[in-house]
Amino acid sequence: MLSVVIVVCTIIVTGASLDPTCFPGCKNTKSWSSCIQHEPNRPSYNRPHPEGICLSCTAQLQRQSVLDIKNSSQPTTACLPNNNRVAIRGFSFGKLSVQKLRPPQQSEVRDLAFIECGITDLEQGLWTRFPQLRSLQLDFNNLTHVKRSWFGDEFQTMTFHFLSLSHNFISSMDSKCFQNLTSLVTLLLDNNSLQSVQPSWFYNLKWLRKLSLKSNSIKIIPQHTFNSLSLLVDLDLSSNVLTYLLRETVEGLHRLRILSLGGNRLLSLNKLDMNWQLGYRLFSAQRIAVRVNEALFCITESPEMAQFYHVQMQHDNHTQAAQPSVELKSQCTFLQQRTKSQTKYSLPLILISVNNTESDKHAGNITHLCQHAWENVPAVKVALPGRTQTLHIVPVAVDKSCKPQIVAIVLSDVNSSQLQGSNYNRGIEEMKNVTCVINTWEKTHLHVFTAPMSSTPDGTVCEQQTETVFNSPYSTLCRGNKAFDH
Ligand SMILES: *[C@@H]1O[C@H](CO)[C@@H](O)[C@H](O)[C@H]1NC(C)=O
Ligand SMILES: *[C@@H]1O[C@H](CO)[C@@H](O)[C@H](O)[C@H]1NC(C)=O
Ligand SMILES: *[C@@H]1O[C@H](CO)[C@@H](O)[C@H](O)[C@H]1NC(C)=O
Ligand SMILES: *[C@@H]1O[C@H](CO)[C@@H](O)[C@H](O)[C@H]1NC(C)=O
Ligand SMILES: *[C@@H]1O[C@H](CO)[C@@H](O)[C@H](O)[C@H]1NC(C)=O
Ligand SMILES: *[C@@H]1O[C@H](CO)[C@@H](O)[C@H](O)[C@H]1NC(C)=O
Ligand SMILES: *[C@@H]1O[C@H](CO)[C@@H](O)[C@H](O)[C@H]1NC(C)=O
Ligand SMILES: *[C@@H]1O[C@H](CO)[C@@H](O)[C@H](O)[C@H]1NC(C)=O
Ligand SMILES: *[C@@H]1O[C@H](CO)[C@@H](O)[C@H](O)[C@H]1NC(C)=O
Repeated sequence: MLSVVIVVCTIIVTGASLDPTCFPGCKNTKSWSSCIQHEPNRPSYNRPHPEGICLSCTAQLQRQSVLDIKNSSQPTTACLPNNNRVAIRGFSFGKLSVQKLRPPQQSEVRDLAFIECGITDLEQGLWTRFPQLRSLQLDFNNLTHVKRSWFGDEFQTMTFHFLSLSHNFISSMDSKCFQNLTSLVTLLLDNNSLQSVQPSWFYNLKWLRKLSLKSNSIKIIPQHTFNSLSLLVDLDLSSNVLTYLLRETVEGLHRLRILSLGGNRLLSLNKLDMNWQLGYRLFSAQRIAVRVNEALFCITESPEMAQFYHVQMQHDNHTQAAQPSVELKSQCTFLQQRTKSQTKYSLPLILISVNNTESDKHAGNITHLCQHAWENVPAVKVALPGRTQTLHIVPVAVDKSCKPQIVAIVLSDVNSSQLQGSNYNRGIEEMKNVTCVINTWEKTHLHVFTAPMSSTPDGTVCEQQTETVFNSPYSTLCRGNKAFDH
């Protein structure tokens, strides 16, 4: 009896048959999730339920005959199924239009996704046919330029909160292109071809909480780019080619709690073979995780004593903490569980990781290493949001192939207006105790030295500086292009 019921149900589900003239070569399969697959980036608060409709089209992309509305002998029936969630995968649309979709008169679609649909453009006013729309995914399509006309006035009356344009070929966007998306909460632009970011793109996104620009080719983020995003909580800029983040860029982001940064591609400016990732969290306490090649640094604010930090470092590759595939914050959690350090340090703080192969030569001269890390020109400079802190990554020594063997992370909390002040009071310059923690494969060493405030690396950075050659006595190889040519 039970099996009969199941058979009947199956027939009904698969029998929600598709008019073959609608989307030739497509099958109505299982559920929404079979079209969407894995969505690690989508926050749980706006993840659609697994049910819904997935039209899965044959690998060989199909082309649909465009309905000529004027031809009355053609069927005028709707093509796009009327369901809360509709996803289409693998159908070739080119320019997405009402005529190609043929949505029902009263479309109930709330979550709409077109994955691998060869979409190159969107017809203006298309979304007026979807008054209930709240999320739209256009991943793995052929979009190259985001037009302002794609998201018109119709969005003003919708509670539209999720837009993903990830995995396209987007290299530019109209200014104010999202200006009507006033209720947008999540905007994903992962894995596109953006080389820079314009402040005008984010105009009017008053409610945006998550912005992801992961895996683009972004080199430069102008000052005040994210100023209009006053509610932004989560900003992902990882896997780009950034070498700095300015104080002015993070200044207005009062709600920002999660920041991911990285230059996972080579720092080609310096010919330096250095992959870096930074994961920053600021909830009740601060947590900073930095990975430079295989070395992992975890800096966690002490929950009992603010402004004091616990520190963990690792550079062997035998534990789970050192697996690059594992998320950075999980790596630090593993490491913390393994090494329960109770020592607390205050800022400024230098953490130095010495690779085993080089440790014999250099680690002996700890004083020198610390001084060197403090004074040397960093390869990466990042202003941290929420606090007046800057984090620098300094390759202290590199090997023949320009891979850092000794890396320093310098975290300081010096306020640049204080610095300017101290320059006026020459002679009574304030001194700071700098804590330097050095980790070789065998041992951890501690060295504290005093340095005048004016020598402190401050947050001011400019593009020229990032091209500066390292004046490290160990590295004569990894020079900028100019120096190399001469
Ligand atoms: C109208 O559609 C029918 C069926 O697709 C087709 O045979 C016919 O040629 C069309 N007529 C015009 C005028 O486009
Ligand atoms: C979209 O891009 C893919 C891969 O580059 C290409 O094979 C396909 O023909 C393109 N489709 C359209 C409609 O431009
Ligand atoms: C909505 O977008 C349209 C088209 O880009 C634009 O003309 C209009 O001014 C926008 N409306 C608002 C309120 O921003
Ligand atoms: C990035 O996008 C391209 C083009 O759509 C795709 O082929 C590639 O698989 C994507 N990469 C990732 C990591 O998703
Ligand atoms: C140590 O140096 C060797 C040789 O350059 C390199 O292959 C290895 O990845 C380095 N290990 C770490 C932890 O950086
Ligand atoms: C760890 O590093 C050592 C030396 O750099 C290498 O011989 C070994 O294969 C690495 N092990 C893993 C699991 O990557
Ligand atoms: C440490 O390095 C400095 C600068 O290179 C040098 O002057 C000093 O003699 C070294 N000290 C030792 C103990 O090697
Ligand atoms: C920086 O220092 C100045 C002068 O000491 C102080 O007025 C200002 O509030 C400080 N700024 C921050 C963000 O701490
Ligand atoms: C630096 O540390 C020493 C020893 O703990 C202490 O006496 C001194 O006051 C500290 N100096 C500053 C500027 O904090």
